[in-house]
Amino acid sequence: MSLARSLITWLSAQRAITRPLGATGMRLGFARRFIAGETLEDALGVAAELNARGLLVIMNRLGEDVADAKDAEDSYRAYTEILRQIAERRIDGAITVKPTQLALELDFEQCKRLTMKLVEEASALGNFVEIDMEHSSATEATVSLYEHVRARHENVGLAVQSYLFRTESDLARLKRWNPKIRLVKGAYLEPHDIAFAEKREVDENYSSLMRILFADGFFPAIGTHDEALLAQAKALAKEYGRGSGDWEVQMLFGIRRELQESLVREGIRMRVYVTYGTEWVPYFMRRLAERPANVGFVLKSLFKGR
Ligand code: FDA
Repeated sequence: MSLARSLITWLSAQRAITRPLGATGMRLGFARRFIAGETLEDALGVAAELNARGLLVIMNRLGEDVADAKDAEDSYRAYTEILRQIAERRIDGAITVKPTQLALELDFEQCKRLTMKLVEEASALGNFVEIDMEHSSATEATVSLYEHVRARHENVGLAVQSYLFRTESDLARLKRWNPKIRLVKGAYLEPHDIAFAEKREVDENYSSLMRILFADGFFPAIGTHDEALLAQAKALAKEYGRGSGDWEVQMLFGIRRELQESLVREGIRMRVYVTYGTEWVPYFMRRLAERPANVGFVLKSLFKGR
């Protein structure tokens, strides 16, 4: 990982920095490149526009590492409202939640209870819940949470990260459910004794995990903007006879929009991760870290905003 990337990723986890920045709101506009807005209304508007262009969505409310049980309940209620609005407005989309928003690291029992209720409410509305994968201190609890919910309900998927050494064994553990798995490279700063440090190694592991998803009965959700890996995914879909309803590509809102649209034209099921809310700084900084050149457009906005 480059020094710039490590530094920005480290900064993204420092509350003393992210809190005051977040309080300035999105007034300068640069955050809107990756974030649909501060309100659910903003996000639903973006989702409807994406749907109109043939793209499915997965909706997320920003925020992670809640401080107490009440915040976790608030997050849960916010997600139930997203589910209701998706149904009411006939949005073609699901939701995705970060387990630490539902108190994963504060109170595992509360997190299991809230996640289960959310998945049940989604099921009643004919919808689906995906679970994001966060930093490695949460990985084991997240996989256990997933197992707990998936053993009872089918409408739940999980993200896994190709930079972690453990992911192949996590897939072996989850295979029995033929679940929907979103494969991503991983966006957090992780120690070298548990994660690949070199991009080449992360990409190679992504390729081999992707093959496992296609070969072993998972529903692959290929979460990347990397064209070489997307080409491999298309070849694997062909090799394993997967039709367009049997796998999908997922990308983040605001990244490689033209590529997203060209995949739709090819007939590939394409889902965009749309996030909104006031706690946008850590998410936004992880996007900067992925491509430090993005810092340039932030600086330009800052100068223009003066
Ligand atoms: P890579 O970083 O190699 O980028 C490939 C190309 O994509 C770049 O050359 C560039 O063109 C473009 N690109 C990538 N990032 C960009 C950026 N920020 N700005 C502009 N261009 C960019 N992570 C995690 O740890 N847990 C999770 O649950 C999720 N969930 C998730 C959902 C979805 C739908 C996606 C697409 C990604 C995630 N991630 C994630 C983030 C993921 O781990 C990873 O950090 C990013 O996807 C960037 O990696 P790429 O696979 O795109 O490859």
